[in-house]
Amino acid sequence: MNIKIADLEFEPLISAEEIQTRIKQIAAQLNADYENKTPIFVGVLNGCFMFMGDLLKQITVPCEVAFTKLSSYHGGTTSTRRINDDFDLMVDIANRHVVLVEDIVDTGNTLDYLVAKLSHRKPASITVCALLLKPDAIEYPIEELTHVAFNIPNEFVVGYGLDYMELGRNLDGIYKRVV
Ligand code: IMP
Repeated sequence: MNIKIADLEFEPLISAEEIQTRIKQIAAQLNADYENKTPIFVGVLNGCFMFMGDLLKQITVPCEVAFTKLSSYHGGTTSTRRINDDFDLMVDIANRHVVLVEDIVDTGNTLDYLVAKLSHRKPASITVCALLLKPDAIEYPIEELTHVAFNIPNEFVVGYGLDYMELGRNLDGIYKRVV
C-alpha cells in the first residue's frame, strides 16, 4: 500500500520480513568472521537505530556497542555533501576490531569521511555493514564496505530508520518515492 509522508508519496520496496531474513544471514557471517575478536559495533545515528537493534539481537559472539552521529541530508531528498559531526565516538578503538553499522550508503561521502577519521585512531580493523547501498550513486568507493543487506535503485527511500523531513523512521519496512 502506498503511503504519504509530508508532501511526498512512497510505495513499498522491501518488506519487514525480507529485512529480518537478510539480517539473520548477515549476522551469521559476522558471527563467523568475529569469533574470538570481541568487536565493537559502532552505530551511525540517527538512521541506524532499527538495523543496529535487530542486527545485534542476532550477534552471538562477545561484543561491545557504541554510537556516533553524523548528518548530511538536512531534511531534503538529496545529499548536501556538508557533513555535520554531531556526536563523536566516545570509546577508545586502538587495536580493536570495529564494525560500523550504517543505514544507507548513497554517494559514500559520509562513510569515506568517517572511515578516514576512525582510521587515524589505529583500530586493528574496520569493516562496514550497511543495510542499503545505491550502487548507481556511489562516488567514493569504500573497500571497508564488505557487508550490504540490499542493493537498491538510485531513488529516495524512507522507513526502518530512514527519514524524510525526520518522518517515517518508525516504519517497519522500506518505501521508495513515487516519481
Ligand atoms: P552519502 O554521504 O551520500 O553516502 O549519504 C549518506 C547519508 O545520507 C545516510 O546516512 C542517510 O542519512 C542519508 N541518505 C542517503 N540516501 C537516503 C535516502 O534515500 N533516504 C533517506 N536518507 C538518505
